[in-house]
Amino acid sequence: MHNPTSPIGVFDSGYGGLTILQQIRQLMPDYDYVYLGDNARTPYGSRSFEIVYQFTLQAVRRLFKEGCPIIILACNTASAKALRTIQQHDLPNIDPTRRVLGVIRPTVEAIGEITRNYHVGVLATQGTIASESYPLEITKIYPHIRVSSQACPLWVPLVENNEHQSPGADFFVKKYIDGLLQKDSDIDTIILGCTHYPLLYDKIRQFTPAHIRIIAQGSYVAHSLTDYLQRHRDMQERISRQGTCRFLTTEQADRFSTSANLFLTDSPINVETITLQ
Ligand code: DGL
Repeated sequence: MHNPTSPIGVFDSGYGGLTILQQIRQLMPDYDYVYLGDNARTPYGSRSFEIVYQFTLQAVRRLFKEGCPIIILACNTASAKALRTIQQHDLPNIDPTRRVLGVIRPTVEAIGEITRNYHVGVLATQGTIASESYPLEITKIYPHIRVSSQACPLWVPLVENNEHQSPGADFFVKKYIDGLLQKDSDIDTIILGCTHYPLLYDKIRQFTPAHIRIIAQGSYVAHSLTDYLQRHRDMQERISRQGTCRFLTTEQADRFSTSANLFLTDSPINVETITLQ
């Protein structure tokens, strides 16, 4: 297959990664991008380690075929369960010159500058929480931070079904925030450790005490990528710059376009259905 572009690849299990893509494109509009959403098999949050790893590896291979020299796993569940194995085990065999990066590390690096009392809460999918990636990564860099975690299994379905602004969502938003604060009432900073959760921001804010800061990941991931590319000029030069953005989905293309409007300010125009295997 001939690829006229060598874009930055952005992968998510579904639509949530669009919140990350949007921030990256705002910061670096000149690059080419290809977004891949495995919408037919979402959500990943409740799937096993092995399945998330297999699905994510399939997506990475596909984005490499699209010519991507660098891929962002814009999905916490995939970053938590598959990133390290892909980086250490698969990438050296597939192509050691390409890169696959995640969204957890950039978020974690920022957190030490944000919390004032070193009590941090994490809200994420069951898979991300079970992996313990956030507490492990945070305490590696900031051993003095106490991390409490709460899985929010119903939040992704609320967003994917466009119910995130409905009154019915209130109960489940409040329930998980209360659950987190019961684990540590001193929390002063909450990480939204799932790419879907910024869509629930208004409701999360409503049910969270005003003094607690709520951190969405998009801008941290975008700034971290900019910084990475500035430090790795060889990689920066490999990415093509025509300002294009294509969208691949494992679901129907028209369905993707309609739902993606929830996440993007401009509607995706170039959507193609693909099969991952
Ligand atoms: N995008 C995923 C994440 O950030 C959540 C969606 C899913 O469960 O597949 O964890």
